[in-house]
Amino acid sequence: MKVTIFGSGYVGLVTGACLADVGNQVVCVDIDQDKIDRLNGGEIPIFEPGLEAVVARNREAGRLKFTTDVAQAVAHGLFQFIAVGTPPDEDGSADMQYVLSVARSIGQHMEEYRIVIDKSTVPVGTADEVKAEMTRTLAERGAAIDFDVVSNPEFLKEGAAVEDFMRPDRIVVGTDNPRTTELLRLLYEPFNRQQDRLIAMDIRSAELTKYAANAMLATKISFMNELANLAERFGADIEHVRLGIGSDPRIGYHFIYPGAGYGGSCFPKDVKALAHSAHKAGFPALLLDAVEAVNARQKKVLFEKISAHYGGELAGKTVALWGLAFKPNTDDMREASSRELMAALWEAGVTVRAYDPQAAEETRRIFGDRPDLVFCESAMEALEGADCLALVTEWAEFRSPDFDAVKAALKDPVIFDGRNVFDPDFLGRLGIRYYGIGRGNG
Ligand SMILES: NC(=O)c1ccc[n+]([C@@H]2O[C@H](COP(=O)([O-])OP(=O)(O)OC[C@H]3O[C@@H](n4cnc5c(N)ncnc54)[C@H](O)[C@@H]3O)[C@@H](O)[C@H]2O)c1
Repeated sequence: MKVTIFGSGYVGLVTGACLADVGNQVVCVDIDQDKIDRLNGGEIPIFEPGLEAVVARNREAGRLKFTTDVAQAVAHGLFQFIAVGTPPDEDGSADMQYVLSVARSIGQHMEEYRIVIDKSTVPVGTADEVKAEMTRTLAERGAAIDFDVVSNPEFLKEGAAVEDFMRPDRIVVGTDNPRTTELLRLLYEPFNRQQDRLIAMDIRSAELTKYAANAMLATKISFMNELANLAERFGADIEHVRLGIGSDPRIGYHFIYPGAGYGGSCFPKDVKALAHSAHKAGFPALLLDAVEAVNARQKKVLFEKISAHYGGELAGKTVALWGLAFKPNTDDMREASSRELMAALWEAGVTVRAYDPQAAEETRRIFGDRPDLVFCESAMEALEGADCLALVTEWAEFRSPDFDAVKAALKDPVIFDGRNVFDPDFLGRLGIRYYGIGRGNG
């Protein structure tokens, strides 16, 4: 089948590469010329495990092409996916300008029937807006060409995106036309062989399903962080509590890890956007507002622990920072907890010696070169000359370091563990002071 994907970021590139991998002819289009040049030069602009190989073999096979030529892209695919960004506007609402600009482009260039598929995470009602924008654009041209708009939200996780796309838990398809549902079913058939995972529904429910999924996951995290803060005040250990509640199958062990707050390109913006839509609908979303507020507070917790340990005397100190990306196995720095921590440390006159296996380049792009941010080549190098160690991203390589070497390298043997990956008792026996999240020791 012929497929066009607007947007070659985390979602568009993975979608395009995976659809090409099962034999479709895919054209990915982006407005970022540099990104398209890099992709055409065989470079992958993001770090996503396994993606490079899928892109390479499909480019070589001629099934996956990259372009900035919108007319050519619209002419190519029966399926026109919209996978562009929907970043938060200043008021927290989702900024729809990129989605609507794609709708206009398709309306301007289409010459025959097209299925327009919203894969971006968009507020309920967006499919109607896309439809209206395309209808307007077609009318301006004096063209009467049939099209359908479908909501097909994406649930992939960065760091496991290829695997998630190839073996999805579910494929949500929201349409108002049964024929389109069947065409989407055909397109997704190769990913849907073991059992039928396609869940068909009306468009608005599909749009809301994506927000509901992310809001639920964010709620689980904020709930655990709230409990972690209580555990500290009650002298309890949230890690015991986590195991104690996770064993209840109605609760389960998934996604109940306390930590230094959630980040990334999705949870923060999607919770805010859903809350904004709720307020607009005249129904203040009390729970969503609280989830967001708890997370904002949680992102400050690690700095507060560091500051309290040093009695507020932080100027001139050096902190080794393990992890920058918002989670392991990605280089994505959007809303990463490390950003808030570094900003607070810099404000207090601290130098940060940072190491991340993938996100250093992106961090440098965001913050530029500054004397109080030193990029290190390894976890151990980050400790050189540092007063203490803070961990914000639980990359596998940080989990079992040579603690004797860590202790010897730090001026003050103290670890601030923002993801509860270390064992406080073990570190205590080694003579390393340990601060975790919700572990009874403040
Ligand atoms: N990143 C994730 O893990 C994830 C998961 C599920 C859903 N989503 C949703 O998918 C959407 C895309 O997210 P992302 O992380 O891939 O974003 P991204 O910022 O990585 O990529 C978006 C791309 O769209 C391009 N673009 C903007 N306007 C364009 C236009 N008019 N024509 C063509 N290209 C254009 C940008 O240049 C950019 O390369 C968002 O709505 C996001 O919420 C993201």
